[in-house]
Amino acid sequence: MKILVIGNGGREHTLVWKLKQCSAAGRIYCAPGNPGIGELAECVHIQPDEIGKLKDFALDKQIELTIVGPEVPLVAGIVDEFREAGLQIVGPDKAAARLEGSKSFAKAFMEKYEIPTGRYEVAYDGEEAREKLKDFSYPVVIKADGLAAGKGVLICQKEEEALQAIDDILEHKVFGDAGNHLVLEEFLEGTETSVLCFVDGETILPMASSQDHKQIGDNDTGPNTGGMGTYSPNRVYTESMAKEVEKKILQPTLRGIQKEKMDFRGILFIGLMITEESAKVLEYNVRFGDPETQVVLPRMKNDLCMVFNHLLNRNLAKLKLEWKEETVVCVVLASGGYPGSYEKGIPIHGLEGIPEGVIVFHAGTAKKNNETVTAGGRVLGVTAMGKDVHEARDKAYAVVDRIRFEGKTYRRDIGLR
Ligand code: AMP
Ligand code: GLY
Repeated sequence: MKILVIGNGGREHTLVWKLKQCSAAGRIYCAPGNPGIGELAECVHIQPDEIGKLKDFALDKQIELTIVGPEVPLVAGIVDEFREAGLQIVGPDKAAARLEGSKSFAKAFMEKYEIPTGRYEVAYDGEEAREKLKDFSYPVVIKADGLAAGKGVLICQKEEEALQAIDDILEHKVFGDAGNHLVLEEFLEGTETSVLCFVDGETILPMASSQDHKQIGDNDTGPNTGGMGTYSPNRVYTESMAKEVEKKILQPTLRGIQKEKMDFRGILFIGLMITEESAKVLEYNVRFGDPETQVVLPRMKNDLCMVFNHLLNRNLAKLKLEWKEETVVCVVLASGGYPGSYEKGIPIHGLEGIPEGVIVFHAGTAKKNNETVTAGGRVLGVTAMGKDVHEARDKAYAVVDRIRFEGKTYRRDIGLR
């Protein structure tokens, strides 16, 4: 089977690594990929938002299975275009992708299907936002409605900050059209959990839980990032919590997808806050998480091509997912200055001779004169498996310490929370 993976991060490296192990896997292409992916698959110079070119490529190469990593092409409708052309693709259609593409749409969906989430209001101009703000206590969460590369969520500790956020989003348009309207949201206190699910429209099948570490600094300090590290399974996500989430969140979400007649044959990633009393939804994403995928897929025993095949044929009900008992930890190595501005093209040393049980997934890397160099904010994801979180951490950090590049930035506390 010929496979195409779209994207160029650590998530896509992990997908390619896992797909390569499928019994039915033939040639694997990745658009655009990165040097780590290039060791396993053929990288193609097409960007994830070049939907027409991707479709032509898939038709030309007779690709039998396409998996989309990032949200941008999903929200732009890549799934509808591929399916119209008779191509098999894993992902939600454009209507379903709005669950990630518009935060107000997602909140209205949750309200309609009685899915537990924080209280919210939508505002279309500054005056309305300032008026509605009066009904919230602090901290308050202010979110640009559309896609903002993970930067559109502002947690405001006091009124002054909230007024500034409203101005920045609605008047100064710091997130462009993504900020044509905004969502004001009650701040939820608790422990975050990421639950990725396979969805075929008739069945929702959760994968093993994981936990991201969003902030740049140890002990959750400093600004939010795309994610600085993960571990799986998430220890706060107990079996009884999973049962409650299945009943109160997963099944009502599936019912909503059906009632709204969405064609959702893809991945639904539910960001949960486990508060003192219960689990509440922070957000929906309609794709694999990054760096959640790096710790979830290495624990999965199933053949991933087989899972996608069941998913596309609306046959997930017949499938049982199986997981390794071990814990997996992923530590992200980022460029100096990230999530602000950073330099690119810095040589990376120490990538050779990685010990067994550790995988270094590439994210923002490139090749320059046969040397691997930095090319993005998040550069590498050092991923290790161990009998418990301590063993996995020890193995991961031993490799983290060996890899060297100027400005190397990482958290020392992944998995300790
Ligand atoms: P989102 O993109 O909506 O997941 O937001 C990014 C991050 O902001 C989440 O992973 C949380 O850490 C934080 N966040 C979002 N909404 C809330 C909320 N209502 N209460 C507390 N933290 C939040
Ligand atoms: N790690 C969070 C995300 O993928 O959105």
